[in-house]
Amino acid sequence: MSLGPVEIFEVGPRDGLQNEAREIPVAEKVALVDCLSRAGFSRIEVASFVSPKWVPQMAGSAEVLAGIARAPGVRYAALTPNMRGFEDARAAGADEIAVFASASEGFSKANINATIAESFERFAPIIEEARHIDLPVRGYVSCVVECPYDGPVPPAAVAEVADRLFSMGCYEVSLGDTIGAGTPDTIARMLLKVRDVVPVGRLAGHYHDTKGRAMANIDASLSMGVRVFDAAVGGLGGCPFAPGAAGNVATEAVAEHLAALGYETGLDLEVVREAAKMARAMRA
Ligand code: HMG
Ligand code: MG
Repeated sequence: MSLGPVEIFEVGPRDGLQNEAREIPVAEKVALVDCLSRAGFSRIEVASFVSPKWVPQMAGSAEVLAGIARAPGVRYAALTPNMRGFEDARAAGADEIAVFASASEGFSKANINATIAESFERFAPIIEEARHIDLPVRGYVSCVVECPYDGPVPPAAVAEVADRLFSMGCYEVSLGDTIGAGTPDTIARMLLKVRDVVPVGRLAGHYHDTKGRAMANIDASLSMGVRVFDAAVGGLGGCPFAPGAAGNVATEAVAEHLAALGYETGLDLEVVREAAKMARAMRA
């Protein structure tokens, strides 16, 4: 019996590779994205137009977008921390962009050198410009359970940031358990608050697997109505500004788990496994 559709938003080429120590050639990134494009994803995050001084690994993002073979029906996404990043993403032909906020001040400062309030001042003109050109904007909230600098994060703080992103025009808000500190219980309590202000159909779970609990957190989120999950092939990933943020939950494991539960992901598992093998081989 089918339990209906669940989407996996593939973030491996961005969240996965941004933290790798080895300088990965653009051609390898393009090959990974091209393989992912055959797997049946609707959205793949492939680029990040951030300062190369902060994240050297994402420096070739424009070349990646120029080099991939775009598959029909797939949206290729890029992170944009400021107006400069937005302009670069637009010039490179990103199909959608993402602004990224934090529910904790410590991580906001460490990640984008701005307070939460300052970050929203930066996002407002980006979202406004994007609206003019019909470019979808996704919003991330980091540290939805715990911050590596400030400790536990109250669900109300997450709800406030999620609400603001959604009210400003983000079509979906992705909730990041950046350091994988969440448990089914803390994730559920956080979702209860966030669901009050953003429709659950506009939420995504973005769970890092640092402590091996990402899958249990996905199960808790499914039971609360979340139907989109971010994942990275091969379990790649982490964030350079979140010590201990190990890989994102592995796409191939999530896809198999969802299929076993009876959800439809529309993914070709063979191709997903092939991409996971490629991703693992790219690790330093
Ligand atoms: P800053 O140092 O405060 O800003 O950084 P700045 O304006 O002084 O710029 C510093 C230098 O970067 C300047 O160059 C700028 O021109 C340049 P210089 O004059 O020194 O030669 N610069 C840029 N270059 C290229 N593209 C740009 C850009 N902007 C400035 N867009 C800034 C502020 C936001 C730029 C910086 O902090 C930054 O780039 N941060 C990004 C950090 C990042 O990418 N983190 C990882 C992604 S978030 C994440 O992984 C979490 C997530 O997965 C969800 C989860 O798991 O929780 C999404
Ligand atoms: Mg992440």
